[in-house]
Formats: sequence, C-alpha cells, structure tokens
Amino acid sequence: MNFDLLIKNATTFVPENTTDLGKRSPLKKTQLDIGIRGGRIVDLGQLSSSNAEQVLDANHLVVLPGIIDSQVHFREPGLTHKEDIESGTRGALLGGITGIFEMPNTKPSTTTVDLFKQKVTIAKNRSHTHFAFYAGAAADNVELLNELENQEFCSGIKVFMGSSTGTLLIEDDVLLEKVLKNAKRRVAVHCEDEFRLRERKSLLIPSSDGKIPVSLHPKWRDEITSLNAVKRLIYIAEKFQKKVHVLHVTCQEEVEFLASYKNLASVEVLPQHLTLHAPDCYEKWGCKAQQNPPIREKKHQEALWKALHNGVIDVIGSDHAPHTLEEKSKDYPNTPSGMTGVQTLLPVMLNHVNQGNLSLQKLTELLTENVRDVFQLKNKGRVQIGFDADFTLIDLNKERLIQNSWIASKSQWTIFDGLKVKGWPTHTILKGKICMQDDEILNPFCGNGFEFERN
Ligand code: DOR
Repeated sequence: MNFDLLIKNATTFVPENTTDLGKRSPLKKTQLDIGIRGGRIVDLGQLSSSNAEQVLDANHLVVLPGIIDSQVHFREPGLTHKEDIESGTRGALLGGITGIFEMPNTKPSTTTVDLFKQKVTIAKNRSHTHFAFYAGAAADNVELLNELENQEFCSGIKVFMGSSTGTLLIEDDVLLEKVLKNAKRRVAVHCEDEFRLRERKSLLIPSSDGKIPVSLHPKWRDEITSLNAVKRLIYIAEKFQKKVHVLHVTCQEEVEFLASYKNLASVEVLPQHLTLHAPDCYEKWGCKAQQNPPIREKKHQEALWKALHNGVIDVIGSDHAPHTLEEKSKDYPNTPSGMTGVQTLLPVMLNHVNQGNLSLQKLTELLTENVRDVFQLKNKGRVQIGFDADFTLIDLNKERLIQNSWIASKSQWTIFDGLKVKGWPTHTILKGKICMQDDEILNPFCGNGFEFERN
C-alpha cells in the first residue's frame, strides 16, 4: 500500500472495542506501524516502508492519539493583548496538543450566530491546531441556543453559573432550566453559586498590612459554593433528562456527590488542581495562583485523584486562561483569575505518570477516547483505521525544565516555571503532517474544525 507517512515501531494505545463508536472503549497498549494516506489512518500492523513517501521511526517514543484540550480561553476577539487564536494554538502545538475547544467569554461574548461564525472564520486561517468553539448562554439568547449548538465546529453550550472573567452569567434556576430545556447536546457548566459568591464577598477583609490576602480566594469561593451549584445543576439535568459536563471540579464534596450521577454528568479536572494546593500555592505564587474555581487544600487534591481513579473524572482540560503579568500584579481582588496551561498540560501530566500517580493508559483515555465520547467527536481521538491521522508523540524519559521562555502565550508566563519534569511531547502530527518536532513548528496553520456526531 502507498502511504504519505508511515510511523514505524509505534508503541501506542488502541481501543479494545473498535466497532461500537457510540461507546467509550478502554485502551490497550500495543506495538505496530501506522500507515497514513490523505490525512487518515489507512493501515495498522507490520507494514513495509517501500511505498511510503515519508517514514518516521518512533522507536523509543510513544505514539498517543492526538491529545485534545477541551477547555481553553484564547481571548479573540477583544482581549488579544492577553492571547489570540494564533498564539494560543501555537502554544498548544508546542505542548503536543492537536486540538482545542475554545470558550465564549471573549469580548464580545460568543452569544450570537454571527459572533460564533466570526470566530470560526478567524480560526480557519490562523489555527495551528484543530479547533471547536463553545457558544455562551446568556439571559438574552436562550431561544437561540439550539441554533448555536448546531453550528458547524461548535463543541456545545457553555454556562457560567457564577461570575468569573467576562460578563456571561446564568445565575438563577429559572434561566438555567430554560438553557437546559433549549439545548439538545451536552451543556458544559462552570459550577459556582452566584448567590453565595455575592453573600461571601464581605469575607474579603484586609490584614494588618491593609491588603486583602489572595489566600482568602478559596474561602470566599468555598467548597459549598461549588457544591451548591453542582447540586442545582444536577437537579435540573435530572428533571429534563439532559446531559451536562461539569467543568473543573475542585473539591471532595463535588466529586463525592457527582459519583452518583454519572449517567447525566461528565466531569473535568485541571492539572493545576491535581498538582498545586492551598495554602502553599498562594504563599509561593500570590495572585498567579488565583483561579476560578480556586485551588484548595491538600485533602481536596487527594479527593480529586481518588475520583480520577474511581471513574468519576472523565477528562482533563487545561482551562488555559491567560492574563498579563501586569494584570496579575494588581492588588487582590482586583486581579483577574486564571493561568496559562495549554502548553504545559501534557508535560505536567506526563510527570505525574512518571511519579506513579496515574498510568499512561489512563492519561491517554482522559485526553483522547473519553473526550471523543463525551463530546461525540467524529473521526478523532483513536488509533484506528479510518480515523484522522492526528498523533502526539512523547518521550517518556526526557527530563526538562518548564520555563517561561518556552511559553508561546502572549502573557508569557506559567505557574510551572522552574518545574523539572520527566516526560515531554516531541512531535505533534495533524492529519498526517508533522506540524511540530522538537520545539520547532514545521507546518504552521494546519488546523481544521472538529466535527461532531449529531443524533
Ligand atoms: O480562573 C478562571 N479564568 N476561571 C474561569 O472560569 C474563567 C477563566 C478566564 O477566562 O480568565
């Protein structure tokens, strides 16, 4: 057979069940060659390189299905001093990410079909990775939600139950019911209870130095703030039998509650909540560690790991949320919440693999197969004949320092600056094209829109 690209000696993960695409399959480790033509996987097995235009020997590397980051904020339009689609996806590509789903809290928020299409137009010309966009739910667009979620390259509707960066907010249950009733696809939700946030803002009082310490952030936005929102969401999802995606869980109470509702709710966790904890993170990094929902104490981090191993957690996203260092150096609480993450997601999580905190197979499921299943992605996320030839190659033994100077984001910093990790992405391949190799972008702007199964 003729191949455009042949990946030889690939240690990789393939699904145990290849026939039922409507089901999530566990992965199994195997070694084979991968034959690619026309951007698709056309053959798997022991393959001859005699008719291959290009051969990539993956000996000593692991070939993962293309890693997908299902939560990023790339700030275009309106906030492009922090990030834009080009710089955001460049960071993604360098970090081994083959595709992203981008959030609607840009300026203006992505709440109309026109604004949604504008983002797609920008991305079609300037995205280094595959892309999809969420549409934002707002008080004045609930009637439009089904039309929005049916747009090409839409990953679904996003709801902010508590205010964070930007103006999007669905604070009360009457409105939330309307959103869930009108949306047919799985709705992604930021779960913090706005009413409790307002009540508790008075807890932000200055210390003896006259300043309000950022360590109060997880006390203001406490566990109950997250749990109340999750409970309200699940009550409504159950009432209307709708599927929801609970973004960035942070605490024990949430994951213990959600364990009983896996038929309705898929669940995301972030690397920063698995890696950093309070109060140390606020002492060490100040407002750089400020994030919504907040980084909490160690006992919550332990609960998140437990939930990851128990199957409560479905996906890991980065919640890449860049803000400039100048913005982050204001006095709390005038500082914005969020940190970069799309570029460091994989190195940080591979380091967890090397530390024995999870297996590479589990990590791969959380970043590919489960994302495919939760969002009903078409032809993505699997090493299987007929699927798109997107791959992330990693060197599990490579040791490297994460440094700000490596970060492509316009905000130019990462909370993981100075962290020595073991495990690093070496190649990012999109539709059979090697787009990134060893920190170099060989083929820019190869991203296409993600397609989704529609039932
Ligand atoms: O910390 C956060 N930053 N949490 C969010 O929900 C939004 C994000 C941002 O866009 O800055």
